[in-house]
Amino acid sequence: MNQKAYITTPIYYVNDVPHIGHAYTTIIADTMARYYRLKGYDTFFLTGTDEHGQKIEEAAISRGRTPKEYADEISGKFKALWDEFEISYDKFIRTTDQEHKIGVQKAFSTMFNSGDIYKGEYEGHYCVSCETFFTDTQLIDENLCPDCGKETRIVKEESYFFKLSNYQEKLLKWYSDDEKCVLPKGKKSEVISFVKQGLRDLSITRTSFDWGVKLPDEINDPKHVMYVWLDALLNYITALGYGNDEKNMKYWPATIQLVGKDILRFHAIYWPAFLMSLGLPLPKHIAAHGWWTRNGEKMSKSKGNVVNPKEVADAYGLENFRYFMLREVPFGQDGDFSQKALIDRINSDLSNELGNLLNRIIGMSGKYSDFNISSKDVFDYHKKELTSVMEHIRLAETNLQDMQTNRYLEELWKALTIANQSITVYEPWVKMKEGDKEFAFATVAMVANILAKVSIVLHPVMPKTTQKIAKTLNFEISYDTYKKFIEDDSLLDDFKIEKIPPLFPKVEGELLNSPTPSVKEEIKKEEDSLITIDQFFQTKLKIGTILDATEVPKSKKLLKLRVDLGEEKPRQIVAGIKEFYSAESLLNTQVCVVANLKPAKIMGLVSEGMLLAAKDKEGLSLLRPQDSKKSGSSVG
Ligand code: ME8
Ligand code: MG
Repeated sequence: MNQKAYITTPIYYVNDVPHIGHAYTTIIADTMARYYRLKGYDTFFLTGTDEHGQKIEEAAISRGRTPKEYADEISGKFKALWDEFEISYDKFIRTTDQEHKIGVQKAFSTMFNSGDIYKGEYEGHYCVSCETFFTDTQLIDENLCPDCGKETRIVKEESYFFKLSNYQEKLLKWYSDDEKCVLPKGKKSEVISFVKQGLRDLSITRTSFDWGVKLPDEINDPKHVMYVWLDALLNYITALGYGNDEKNMKYWPATIQLVGKDILRFHAIYWPAFLMSLGLPLPKHIAAHGWWTRNGEKMSKSKGNVVNPKEVADAYGLENFRYFMLREVPFGQDGDFSQKALIDRINSDLSNELGNLLNRIIGMSGKYSDFNISSKDVFDYHKKELTSVMEHIRLAETNLQDMQTNRYLEELWKALTIANQSITVYEPWVKMKEGDKEFAFATVAMVANILAKVSIVLHPVMPKTTQKIAKTLNFEISYDTYKKFIEDDSLLDDFKIEKIPPLFPKVEGELLNSPTPSVKEEIKKEEDSLITIDQFFQTKLKIGTILDATEVPKSKKLLKLRVDLGEEKPRQIVAGIKEFYSAESLLNTQVCVVANLKPAKIMGLVSEGMLLAAKDKEGLSLLRPQDSKKSGSSVG
């Protein structure tokens, strides 16, 4: 058993709780990992969370938390959901893990020493939401991000660059030499035409905030932290011990790196270029899937139309949900989630075709042969059917290896159709009446064999359900039975069927209120939850007097304030209130300040506190004492 498989998901940002899109990627990856394990490959399956960068730092600050505390909480939610979903990952990596940081520094040094990194100055636009640099010509309406539409910021700072331009030809060669390196084909052509337009060197460090991996000591440039995408992409090797204990590096190169189409460019261009610079082999497949929408709209927290995967799985069954996700959408295309589509899949594919086949086998064998089934005459009577079943099964497997998840399932269902149609065509009950028991028994045994084979190859998608089916057919799904019934195409040994209740009861109507209570509400519930008075007093609130207020250059929202809190030195506080207050109007007014917040950097400026304000549709108002109070007076 020396064949190896390494399957990865993206590591998800911790600024968002998991939703159906993350579940989709992770479920496909889990299916692939289970498939390779079933085939006897030594398999390693990685998932995790991406915790550094400006976006996470700002999300944490806006909630009054340290980035690490915030990351701990959200990372925990991802892990808890995957555990609940029985995702069979071998490692859950966090980019705040010490080994990861060491591995990233090691990689930086190696790239530096190979001459691929140089120091310069970056000037351009940055989208914090996508953590991506853009040139003037890439922007929409002069300052909007071409990927997400949000406002970009102007960045001008010292930066180290990676010589991406050196890799343009090597990348193009890889795409043309290795037909399936990027899947599906349509997505690969998009990548190729992007690279052909020319690659610019990539800024790979930042100086305007702190929440990232520091450069290696020998470079001795403590102002810089690594660009979050460099840090994040390297997780795929640091998880195997790169730069530390490298014993799991035997799994590299990855078999399949699954991503959504939003981040294909990072994975199909930057990542292989970094790997070439490190002298490591390139992944075998980078596979990009499409986007899930809800009733045709993009899902987003602000719209409150996010589908919560746990609610769906709880209501409809986890494995039914897994089947639906893989079957409903051609891999690479966008898909729309609706309960109706899910219910249709359960009632028709699962209940009518799969579940019913099992019921008919139980029913017929019970009536004709006291539940005994023997494959002895199957090849004599039904060789033709079994031959085409095996063709569909082999095609199903090839499709799965090529990430054509929907076609893989379609092929399996074609095999089920052959079974169901054979019952209608050969009418075993007529054969029984006519006294041709041998033929009738052979037909029942043939369809039982089809069901057994389909269950094995369907196992990676529906692990528990298929194991139940196998048990009624007196075997257990494992590498051995995969080898016996699929690779060697043997038939079931004689056995007595074990009756079980129907596996897929029909769903009569929508089981969740529509729209489903969203992830947004889940967050809100948490925010509404009660705290103790001690918890409240952990926040030190004080009255401050504004001594000085100036605009932060290039920022639409920020003012820089000097606020007297009755301490030795006034504090510098950066506040997002410029749209509501002019700098002059604030001079010598009083405000309420959160005084024990960990200092944070906002647009390169240290902020040593936060102002309290109330906000509604009409705008924002600072909270102030009704009468003037001494600077530093406590609030509470
Ligand atoms: O991009 N439909 O993390 P992220 C389908 N940290 N898939 C979706 C989806 C949707 N509506 N929404 C999210 C990042 N996804 C980086 C990755 S990897 C080195 C760093 C899935 O939290 C899809 O897989 O924004 C997408 O690529 C991923 O979540 C983005 O997750
Ligand atoms: Mg994203």
